[in-house]
Amino acid sequence: MDELRTKYIEAIAAAADEATLEELRVRAVGKKGEISLKMRELGKMTPEERQVAGPALNALKNEINSALAAKKVALSDAALDARLATEWLDVTLPSRTRRVGSIHPISQVTEEVTAIFADMGFAVAEGPQIETDWYNFDALNIPGHHPARAEMDTFYTHRAEDDERRPHVLRTHTSPVQIRTMEKDGAPIRIICPGRVYRADYDQTHTPMFHQVEGLALGKDISMANLKWVLEEFFSAFFGTDVKTRFRASHFPFTEPSAEVDIQCSWEGGTVKVGEGDDWLEVLGSGMVHPNVLKAGGIDPDEYQGFAFGMGIDRLAMLKYGIPDLRAFFDSDLRWLRHYGFASLDQPTLHGGLNR
Ligand code: DAH
Repeated sequence: MDELRTKYIEAIAAAADEATLEELRVRAVGKKGEISLKMRELGKMTPEERQVAGPALNALKNEINSALAAKKVALSDAALDARLATEWLDVTLPSRTRRVGSIHPISQVTEEVTAIFADMGFAVAEGPQIETDWYNFDALNIPGHHPARAEMDTFYTHRAEDDERRPHVLRTHTSPVQIRTMEKDGAPIRIICPGRVYRADYDQTHTPMFHQVEGLALGKDISMANLKWVLEEFFSAFFGTDVKTRFRASHFPFTEPSAEVDIQCSWEGGTVKVGEGDDWLEVLGSGMVHPNVLKAGGIDPDEYQGFAFGMGIDRLAMLKYGIPDLRAFFDSDLRWLRHYGFASLDQPTLHGGLNR
């Protein structure tokens, strides 16, 4: 009995896994196990012998069973410890960096422009990029034979051979939104219209798609002086410094009188700085809305008048953020976008400060 005890208790203590433990259980206390067989021999013993051997065998059986149970618990605790050790995770490690997108300079500048004009009471109006030639030309006092039509390098949409109607165009400027807004809202009006425009042109300063923002203010006593104030106010807010403007007499079919506007700049060291120096940079076209344009928009030119202007958003972005080549704006080169892009939570507002 002592031999049996030593043999099994030691084997149980040494068992490395549950399978070994089960094997030991079968060999010791299973139906045909050594201890079970010994118990069967009790019947052949004398009552005296049985009185001694019986309890001793029972005690041994109990001892082995509890040793098995204890070892089983110990093994599963060890297995859990091993798992916890290998599956350990350091939650204090810094996370893997994930690239987030950035705001394109055009979107950023559009937001900036919108914030500044909104502060002066201008709402944002939008129109379609595929326009009828009426809205893009005729309504803006550019009749069929007018040279401005040819000058604008217009993209025309396709019409079937036998379709007599004039083709739609990709709008060549944001000015048609003036007419659409007059028709929709009537006077008085105070809007800006930012958006994409299209012309068949491609070099360092021209891309076939670019961006403009139109401005339109109609009222009973709006004059060229209001135009000048609004534009100077805008440029100073946009560039973050007092910017002088120069109005040069010009000609546009949709305004009378018309003026091209230059902003003060310097060209020191080959880079342009706005708001200093004594050079001038042309940035927009403007004027008093032509009576024919008001009429086309359903507004009585004897009752209302006002100013309009149009400027390039891409150009503003290049000037403010020192971006040299316009074509790169639309190449979708991630390196360029990461370099010139803006953080997405950095929304430009007048109170929060525009980006400089
Ligand atoms: N539409 C003109 C262009 O694309 C810009 C422009 C000039 C707009 C004078 C105006 C304006 O509203 O009054 O070149």
